[in-house]
Formats: sequence, structure tokens, C-alpha cells
Amino acid sequence: MAQGVSGAYLGTFFHTPVYGQMEYLKDALIEVDKDGVITRVALPADADYAQLVAGYRQAGTLTELPAGCVGLPGFVDIHVHSCQWPQSALALDEPLYLWLQEKTFPLESKFADLDFARTVYADLVDQLFARGATTVVYLGSAHLEATVELARICVDKGQRALVGKTVMDDPEANPSYYRDASAASAVADTETLIHEVEGMQHDCPQGVWPVITPRFIPSCTDEVLKGLGDLAARYDCYVQTHCNEGQWEHDTVLARFGKEDPYALQDFGLLRDHSIMAHGCFLTPEEGELFERLGVAVAHCPMSNPYFGSSVAPVRRLREQGVRMGLGTDISGGYSPNLYESIRQAVMSSRQLETGVNALVPEAERGGVPDSRISVVQAFWLATKGGGEALGLPVGDFEPGMAFDLQVIDTKRRWSDLTGFGVFDEPQDQLARILYLSNPENIRQVYAQGRLVCNKDA
Ligand code: GUN
Ligand code: FE
Repeated sequence: MAQGVSGAYLGTFFHTPVYGQMEYLKDALIEVDKDGVITRVALPADADYAQLVAGYRQAGTLTELPAGCVGLPGFVDIHVHSCQWPQSALALDEPLYLWLQEKTFPLESKFADLDFARTVYADLVDQLFARGATTVVYLGSAHLEATVELARICVDKGQRALVGKTVMDDPEANPSYYRDASAASAVADTETLIHEVEGMQHDCPQGVWPVITPRFIPSCTDEVLKGLGDLAARYDCYVQTHCNEGQWEHDTVLARFGKEDPYALQDFGLLRDHSIMAHGCFLTPEEGELFERLGVAVAHCPMSNPYFGSSVAPVRRLREQGVRMGLGTDISGGYSPNLYESIRQAVMSSRQLETGVNALVPEAERGGVPDSRISVVQAFWLATKGGGEALGLPVGDFEPGMAFDLQVIDTKRRWSDLTGFGVFDEPQDQLARILYLSNPENIRQVYAQGRLVCNKDA
């Protein structure tokens, strides 16, 4: 079905409108208007269901999921360094400081070349689509032009994107070949990005937004942090940064300001409704309360935390505190652009947080944090509805009023069969198999805002 035409999708769908609760929509008819917004989900028990299906079929606007296929909401990946895609899976044996200085900054500096940037960014958007991500929060490089180009590519390809130019102006912390020329130029470039991206919004059904993006406190001067906080207030703009990620960063901020990241960021006006704070591994209960009160969201990045986080983020506790939270792959601190892997790692890491990990000390002294485990359905919520709530966008599940973002999962691929043997076949078993065992081959089509953006059967 083409974008701009209303129609309907018939099939079986899984989603999780409420944290931790899976809903199974068997043989559902999802009606979508010409703007790509869901208007109704009809079920076989509804009196007019048969008539509706027949009507769409007759009009030629019915898309039926093939036998063996089911639908999941498009994923929401809320922390991706677009300019680190070429080094995904590399150099992860380095600590963060050296990884940045020796590998990442040299790579990111190459995005001064717009042709290179276009090639990498066009590929990354396609790769993320191929793994089911329909909404993505990006950190670009420190270059304005390449970051504007990234936003344009997302607009053209149909990916819903929030895009920021990474700000890193401190000459003490960043190499001369790769940093903002000054605090003033960094703020001016960010303001230009806001105008450029807002200028793309009129012709972008799926949505595109600018994001104010100080890399993290250690790479920024006080002057730039204050300037960016002022911009955020003036333009009522999204903010993203790294916050409370690992021991080195945590200690550096504490030594500089005599307070932890969240309070320092708050002083600069960077903790706002729907600000996105990557990691949050060191967040205390008091800081969780602060985030909840201000509407600040955490981007949980379980694939990268084992490398740079020095810890496991307290996901369950933050959720119980009511903190908004979604998942990020954190390419390339996370090694893969596949949010399914983040779902799996989120569950596994939470189990290790609960038990502690050193078996050579007695269980009671192992450092486990009771009641820390999350379920795979809770992790699925983080990857979908949680991400949507973090961003304040109507995405992440199949309800009227939500954007129609869909991944069509084929459970019967020859080399990736997710059907089991008919022994355990309750809906929750089917969903768990998809979340744990699927690979990109199982995802056949992806729709964003009702537009077919990836078709592996074409
Ligand atoms: N902190 C500052 N920059 C980065 C980055 O690029 N990746 C991660 N994971 N943490 C950071
Ligand atoms: Fe990151």
C-alpha cells in the first residue's frame, strides 16, 4: 500500500502498551489513514470485522501478512552515534578515554568529507531499517554540514529521526584536528542545525527533529554548556548527552563541579522534559526522583555498558521510580545496530545485577542488588513503547492515534525457524522466541508511518 492512501493490514501482531504486559492481537485488522496513523484495531469478535476486511479487500487496499508471519511495532533506538558506524565491533577492549582519543575521534573527524558522510549515513539508515528500527535518535559528528545531511537522508528514506550535531569544544579535552573552534561557534552551529532541521519538517510525514547534543561534560567548557542550555530553553528543543556512564566520567565530573552529572547538567539548563540521558549507570535513587520529576528520559544501552559503563544500569529500580526509559544500541560503544541484541543484553545484565558476579565470594557478599531482574517483555517495552514515551512521540505500539510502524517477522525461515515444535506455543512463547532467536533475515518488511521503507522480498 502506498503512502498517502488509507488502507488496512490483516495479521497477528504482538505489542506491549503497558510496561511488562504483552498483548496478542490475533487476526487483527489495523486500519491506517492516509497520514500513516492507526485509526482502529478491529478484532474477529467485532460485529463489523468481516465486512471491514471484505471492504478493504475489494478496494485493493488490504495488506495481508503471509502465513507464518507476524507483526511487531517498529523499534525505537534512542542512542546511536551515526558517525561511529564504520568502527562497529572494533576496539572495544580499550577504556572509554583511550577509545575516544585513539580510535573514535580520528574516525569522526573524517565526516568533514560530505561524500564520505553521505555514503556511511545512507548505509546506516538502511541497516537500521533492516533490523526493524523506525525511530532513531542520532548523534552526528561535530560537523554541522554532515549532520544536516544525515537529517536529510532520514527524511528522504522515511526514517523518523532526532538528529544532533555533537558539541565538544574544550581544547584541553579534544584534539586540535577535531573539535568545535570555540564555544560561540558550537552554539551558533547548533542554532543553525535547529533551523535547518526544523525547515525539513513541513515535508516529512514521519517526523524529524533537531537535538541539542553536548557530547558529555568532560568534552565541553562551562561556556558551551550554558550556551546550549539557553538554546534548549529558547527553542524548546530536545537535548541528549551521556550522563553517569562510567567510573572515569563520573569521577571527572565530580572533581570538576563537586557534584554528580545530573546536578551539573541541571545547573546548565540541560535537564528538561524529554531530555535524553544516555546510560545513567550511576544514577542514585535521588537522581532517579529528579529525572522522574523533570520528565528526563534515560537511554539504556546494555550492549555498551559492559565495555564502558563499569557497572549495570539499575533499569528496574528506575522504572519503578517512574523514570522514562528506552533502549539504545549506542553504536559503536555497543557493537551491533540490532536492537534485538540490546533487548537480550538488557535482560541478561539485569540478572547479573541481581545476583552479583564473583562466585568466589559468598552469595550474601557478592554485591547483587535484590529485585533487579527485568523480563524479556519489559525489555521489549523499552525497545518500543518506552522509547516512544521517552521521546513524547506517538510511536511504539498498535493503538489508534499511533504512527503505523511495523516489522513483519517471518517465523518460518529455512535457517532461522522460530516456530518451535508445537510444544510450547502460547503467545508469550512465540514472542520470546522472536525476541531471543530472530536475526535480520526473519524481518522481511518494515513500514514507517505507513510507508514501506524496507522490503527484503522485492
Ligand atoms: N562518552 C563520550 N563520548 C562517548 C561515545 O562516543 N560513546 C560512549 N559510549 N560514551 C561516550
Ligand atoms: Fe554513546
